[in-house]
Amino acid sequence: MSGMRPTGRLHLGNYWGALKNWVSLQDKYQCYFAVADWHMLTTGYDDTAGLVDNTREMVLDWLGAGVDPERSVVFRQSDVPEHAELALLLGMITPLSWLENNPTWKEQLQELAKTKREKMLAETKGGTAVKTEESTEAREELRTHGFLGYPVLQSADILIYGAEVVPVGQDQLPHLELSRDIARKFNSLYGGAVLTEPKPLLTETPKLPGLDGRKMSKSYGNAIDLLETAESLSKKVMTAYTDPTRLRATDPGHPEPCPENPPGCTVFALHKLYNPDWKTREDECRAGKIGCVGCKKILLPPIESAFAAFRERRASYAADKTRVEQVLEAGRKKAKATAERTLEKVRRAMKLR
Ligand code: TRP
Ligand code: SF4
Repeated sequence: MSGMRPTGRLHLGNYWGALKNWVSLQDKYQCYFAVADWHMLTTGYDDTAGLVDNTREMVLDWLGAGVDPERSVVFRQSDVPEHAELALLLGMITPLSWLENNPTWKEQLQELAKTKREKMLAETKGGTAVKTEESTEAREELRTHGFLGYPVLQSADILIYGAEVVPVGQDQLPHLELSRDIARKFNSLYGGAVLTEPKPLLTETPKLPGLDGRKMSKSYGNAIDLLETAESLSKKVMTAYTDPTRLRATDPGHPEPCPENPPGCTVFALHKLYNPDWKTREDECRAGKIGCVGCKKILLPPIESAFAAFRERRASYAADKTRVEQVLEAGRKKAKATAERTLEKVRRAMKLR
């Protein structure tokens, strides 16, 4: 079981960090993949206009990348209200201290308060006099029941399907640990092994910097999306960050992250992922035997062919306007059946029935 918040079109960081792994896990496991739209509300409750479109775009990216709705259950969290019932019940046994000490909560609160504050200041064209007041306000705006309870809802997502493994990145480990703690506490309180303790399946993410050498992120505007045209892809590759210490093609380059080029060359990171012959590029770069423009041109055909395959499969799903709805509806039915079975056990264990 895994989920993603519907942020819209996905980028290469999302692909190599999670989606690619989802696709291959389908060969080994019965998978449940959720569009976590309720999780989106935990921080974005004041900006919900894009939820439906972003869900569609993201699901199309999943399908284009090879998530197979015949084998896997692809669904939207808010279509299965059983998640909310389980989250409510789990909330009864989750100590506040577990949530308040969650490192993700502390970090995100700071991070998000900062962005909200910047937004507010930009809107008010800020005077310093109101600054402290506003920063408290931005922080308060995010100190909500829903946001603090983020990992409880996520635990419900996972535990409701009896998930054995959850493919996640490093950043999600504290949340998963909490799911395990909650499952354990539930079982010890109400007896038996009603809830399964899920194990994390850590995705080994190859390091993939964005077009400017910083971490690839939608908000930095430095991302290569999964859905690029041949033209936009080539334009992005040709302007990508390389190695600022190289002034001439004969200067020895630093393709990997190192003190001379801390982020490492973005183009080289892409060669490693898309060009089986990347080792030759590395040798030529270090020896000053290739220019960055030439090196970028060599990357274009292999990366474009991977993108073309994705684009075609995505388009075949997008051509039918109701296809995504059908996929989500079929997923809803399957997810609901499993979720309802778990909840019946949970209600009985808690003596509600
Ligand atoms: N919190 C996850 C993220 O931000 C998304 C998510 C929601 C999730 N429910 C989940 C991940 C269940 C794994 C399992 O990426
Ligand atoms: Fe990067 Fe290639 Fe330039 Fe080396 S030659 S810095 S690998 S683009």
